[in-house]
Amino acid sequence: MLVFDDAVPEATPTQEPVTPPNVTSISIAQPAVAQAPHAVTSISVAPTTPIASTPPQAATPQAAATDAAGGVLGVETIDFKANRIKVDEKRVINCRADLNQLVPFKYDWAWQKYLDACANHWMPQEISMSRDIALWKDPNGLTDDERLIIKRNLGFFSTADSLVANNLVLAIYRHITNPECRQYLLRQSFEEALHTHAYQYVIESLGLDEGEIFNMYREVPSIHEKDAFELQFTQELANPDFHTGTPETDARFLRNLIGYYVIMEGIFFYVGFVQMLSFGRQNKMTGASEEFQYILRDESMHLNFGIDIINQIKMENPHIWTPAFQADIIELIKQGVNLEYKYAVDTMPRGVLGLNVSMFDEYLKFIANRRLKQIGLPEQWPGAQNPFPWMSEMLDLKKEKNFFETRVIDYQVGGALAWD
Ligand SMILES: [Fe+2]
Ligand SMILES: [Fe+2]
Repeated sequence: MLVFDDAVPEATPTQEPVTPPNVTSISIAQPAVAQAPHAVTSISVAPTTPIASTPPQAATPQAAATDAAGGVLGVETIDFKANRIKVDEKRVINCRADLNQLVPFKYDWAWQKYLDACANHWMPQEISMSRDIALWKDPNGLTDDERLIIKRNLGFFSTADSLVANNLVLAIYRHITNPECRQYLLRQSFEEALHTHAYQYVIESLGLDEGEIFNMYREVPSIHEKDAFELQFTQELANPDFHTGTPETDARFLRNLIGYYVIMEGIFFYVGFVQMLSFGRQNKMTGASEEFQYILRDESMHLNFGIDIINQIKMENPHIWTPAFQADIIELIKQGVNLEYKYAVDTMPRGVLGLNVSMFDEYLKFIANRRLKQIGLPEQWPGAQNPFPWMSEMLDLKKEKNFFETRVIDYQVGGALAWD
């Protein structure tokens, strides 16, 4: 059974006894961000959260063990005739067992999410945009406020999923030392590419100015601030000198996971999802709305995988979950809520589609409370209510039913490919 977002009250990490090292507190000073790969170059306005610079952490046994592979986990020389892997040796981070053997499984939740994600496969061009094109080109089809919402959301999302994909492949993946989690990350990375494809498909179908849309993250302050906030996490972990293996760097790694899975995937996408799905509920922009509905389903699973992996790392490394670290995370999530509220105001300066910014203020507090609780932190806005209860219904999407009604193009499957 698939479960999504609001239907998942508790995390499902794999239980095991853990003996924490004798560490009572950690520094949360941030490592240097220099020498990040090109794709994670700073956006040229100061990020919302200042990034402190401290030297990279000292070499550890884990880091030393990987030096022969340039610090890259998984490409070490094959240890011929080494002992076979025992499942208990597996760890999400800092594991020294062979990363290239998917089985024996330890984290069934990760493998199951990989299977569920594959079962949800879809392609953007399967959804017809013909009604959207007619409505967009009709001078009286949409109001200026409605057009602003659509353009700003396409502006944010068309680059946001590239930031997420870059974080996955350039920052997170190389530090995850578990093959079933890596397997899910590979599937997630493909889905992020599909999402960027979907936004491009909508932008091209509507004949929008691509330069205007794809540059919004450099030209619209509320979009830029969200992306700069996220990029700080990627820059830190993409630094080749960054290695997990100390309480400080393990905590920084966990902070990155929370920054992307909880804040980006779990908060920064949700104003846009509500807005774009609201068009569909009013029988407007039905193709774009359906694209967003499929993306929401994928993102919901990304969020749930993120919650599970965060809680698993917490369980395996309880010494990094200090009061100071928890306070830092709560502050980060509050910053995320504020940035997303600014985005709501910027996309919707006046009430439209039965929505207004005060509803988003309440909604963001409601979902942030849920995210905090899911990773074991106290709710910060007691009593916040969900003004959009219909959002959870949107997750219950049946591909077969919808696609029989709207499918226009079959994507090729194995049997349809010619190999000659
Ligand atoms: Fe995505
Ligand atoms: Fe995602």
